[in-house]
Amino acid sequence: MIETRFDDLVENNILCPDTLITKGWQYVDEFLSKQSCLNLLECFQEDLEKDRFSAAKVGKNLEKKLLESVRDSEIAWIENWSRHSDLENLKLGFDQLIRFFNENFFLSLKRFESQFAIYQPGGFYKKHLDQLKGGNRRQVTVIIYLNDCNQGGELVIYNKNDKNKVDKIISPKSGRMVIFFSSQIYHEVRPTHQTRLSLTSWFRDDLIVF
Ligand code: OGA
Ligand code: MN
Repeated sequence: MIETRFDDLVENNILCPDTLITKGWQYVDEFLSKQSCLNLLECFQEDLEKDRFSAAKVGKNLEKKLLESVRDSEIAWIENWSRHSDLENLKLGFDQLIRFFNENFFLSLKRFESQFAIYQPGGFYKKHLDQLKGGNRRQVTVIIYLNDCNQGGELVIYNKNDKNKVDKIISPKSGRMVIFFSSQIYHEVRPTHQTRLSLTSWFRDDLIVF
């Protein structure tokens, strides 16, 4: 259960406000159990079968561009959270995480948006920032890996104060969660040599605009 796990994370200082402030990022292993990852992959599979995936785009709303030279992966937005109990649990976990961020940082997060992402062999995402300058309201990025990716596909995290310095290289491992501040941390996905499956979310401080 995510709820229990989440309480552990805060109580045992695994999710640590000081680390997040100093480094701007943190990762947590086994945020989701292997079983929960497998269950979420059923939803992933359903979206694949129903052709809900499309090539990921780069940039801001109206000028969204499909730039294969920057990014090569496919995504499907998650809209229906009640179709699987593990998705419902994850939503509860995210609500708790939002509370954690609002209580510990000067943030007023209001909602999150999530997508399944698949990188086929050869897929990559060049160095970028999730919050574009003067752009969107993404404040916190939360990535959860749903499979083990041992051949390439590493997430490279750059230093908060020096975007040319590598801070950490993280291999995707099922159940592992990576959190960072969307406006601070440059990052990239190295070309993967095997299929790489993840669930990426952004916590935002705006309300839905219709
Ligand atoms: C993204 C991203 C990194 C990853 O979707 O914006 O940078 O490790 N993902 O999947
Ligand atoms: Mn990113």
